[in-house]
Amino acid sequence: MLSSSSWCLSSTSLPLTSSCNGNEHHFSKHAPKYWDNFYKLHQNKFFKDRHYLVKDWGRYFSNDEDVDDRKVVLEVGCGPGNTIYPLLDAFPNMYVHACDFSPQAISLVKGHPNFNASQMNVFVCDVATDDLSISISPSSVDVITLIFTLSAFSPNKMSLVLQNLRKVLKPNGFVLFRDYAIGDSAQVKLQKKNQLISENFFFRGDGTCSFFFSEDFLSTLFSAGGFDIMDVSTYYREIENRSKNITMQRYWIRGIFRAN
Ligand SMILES: C[S@@+](CC[C@H](N)C(=O)[O-])C[C@H]1O[C@@H](n2cnc3c(N)ncnc32)[C@H](O)[C@@H]1O
Repeated sequence: MLSSSSWCLSSTSLPLTSSCNGNEHHFSKHAPKYWDNFYKLHQNKFFKDRHYLVKDWGRYFSNDEDVDDRKVVLEVGCGPGNTIYPLLDAFPNMYVHACDFSPQAISLVKGHPNFNASQMNVFVCDVATDDLSISISPSSVDVITLIFTLSAFSPNKMSLVLQNLRKVLKPNGFVLFRDYAIGDSAQVKLQKKNQLISENFFFRGDGTCSFFFSEDFLSTLFSAGGFDIMDVSTYYREIENRSKNITMQRYWIRGIFRAN
């Protein structure tokens, strides 16, 4: 596998502002701009609503029947709302905080027909740099969802992000995680195109970045961040694209972590 420095030396298409000397890579440094452009281009048409989360993780969002309090959820990197709106449909009593560093994504969430300001706190925030406890009361969140979001961060920033999440999560609160796993066909494609930034971290053609997780990496990251590991597993599907006559090997990873 190429190291980021060897890639830098051999590339002719690297932006002038990119750094090869241990400083942040251009596409990671300018991630907010590239994600904002992504949503300006695709609006809310790119990702599908994630109804499967209701089926798989419903029990984390439902109230105990005899307790009269509502679950408080934080969706980090909410995009246009493909995770929060299916959850709110299924659990209308929930209170939702949702943030993203793309102003365009946040305006799409607020423009959704089901947006309801009385049960949603939706705001622009870069969770790698902005203190979440300014927008959300400390230790007030029951469940944090990280759905295909942590992969957008440079691995160097992931521990900082977890520290930030812990500030607003209740003791014994949960983080529910899904993302791309190593070996995924998207990783193989990016590898072939030499779009490597650092080990398992790549930039895409549109300037957004993607990390591919191993179970070891994910478990070590969350353990070091003060979480108990309830579950980490990789799952796999072969997806056939008949029109292009190709079969893709898709690998994803999911995890459930509890603040200790
Ligand atoms: C693949 S999308 C996932 C969106 C959503 N979670 C879902 O379930 O479809 C990743 C999202 O993370 C957001 N993101 C990436 N880095 C971020 C950061 N540092 N702070 C806040 N949001 C970020 C991007 O803008 C993008 O909307």
